[in-house]
Amino acid sequence: MWIWLWVGTLVLASGAAEAVTPQALANSKSCMACHSMTQKIVGPGFKQVADRYRGDKGAAAKLATKIRKGGSGVWGPMAMPPAAVTDAEAQQLATWILSQK
Ligand code: HEC
Repeated sequence: MWIWLWVGTLVLASGAAEAVTPQALANSKSCMACHSMTQKIVGPGFKQVADRYRGDKGAAAKLATKIRKGGSGVWGPMAMPPAAVTDAEAQQLATWILSQK
């Protein structure tokens, strides 16, 4: 399964400037300290996030902003701190998170 995610990621990322996969980016930006792919740790699992916004066309932009600026109140009282990522990285991460099945 991971190999297919990886291949899919490469296909998705091939148009973008970044050579770094979103998974590696998420690791290097410490996202995985609070998030897992499937279940809640401090923040929601990324699959849970994808399920919540499935069919929401504005979700990628909304989540990219949230990743950059942080925020709270959607999943609970716990806040997510702003992340040190560029706009392009935030977009890449948001798109990747929403593509989890
Ligand atoms: C200190 C812990 C922490 C770190 C580090 C963290 N998050 Fe979060 N994240 C949270 C919490 C808590 C929430 C729930 C916020 C809420 O309820 O609005 C959240 C929510 C989210 C959501 C869902 C937002 C929504 O409005 O539904 C996404 C997407 C997300 N995080 C991505 C990331 C990414 C990408 C990174 C790394 C750049 C990251 N997070 C780093 C704690 C964290």
